[in-house]
Amino acid sequence: MYDFKIEAADKATLYKDLAAALEALIGDERDAVANMANAAALIWESLPDINWVGFYRNVRGELVLGPFQGRPACIRIPFGTGVCGVAAETREVQLVEDVHAFPSHIACDSASNSEIVVPIIRDGALVAVLDIDSPSHARFDEEDREGCVRLGELLARAI
Ligand code: SME
Repeated sequence: MYDFKIEAADKATLYKDLAAALEALIGDERDAVANMANAAALIWESLPDINWVGFYRNVRGELVLGPFQGRPACIRIPFGTGVCGVAAETREVQLVEDVHAFPSHIACDSASNSEIVVPIIRDGALVAVLDIDSPSHARFDEEDREGCVRLGELLARAI
């Protein structure tokens, strides 16, 4: 049984604990689907105030839905479209305070108001993006960016 209960007093500690738990969960497992599924579940259980977390994988230059927690989501996203597609194309973290102000935002869950998307890159290739949505405006800040980038680095070797 995996029983990770992460209750940190501040965000920096939360992400430090989350990264340690993710590393432990991955161990030496190299199955991408298993690791993405556990990562989504761990983040879902650990981060407050989110309504969706999951992966879109780079399948021959198109983003395709991977393991996630939350409501069913759109399956295919072209590079350059939506927050995820822009993250994939630019390979830059997208930290969006108000998704409704993001020109090509794709609304999978109307409850979402802010979003962070982290590109996951291995050996110079974009493997996937990690997408986290929140019902709150401006839910994600620079500490979330730093913490999520660290999670992405751990996942790059495991998916
Ligand atoms: N909002 C995303 C689409 C994925 S869902 O949030 C799960 C986007 O604009 O890329």
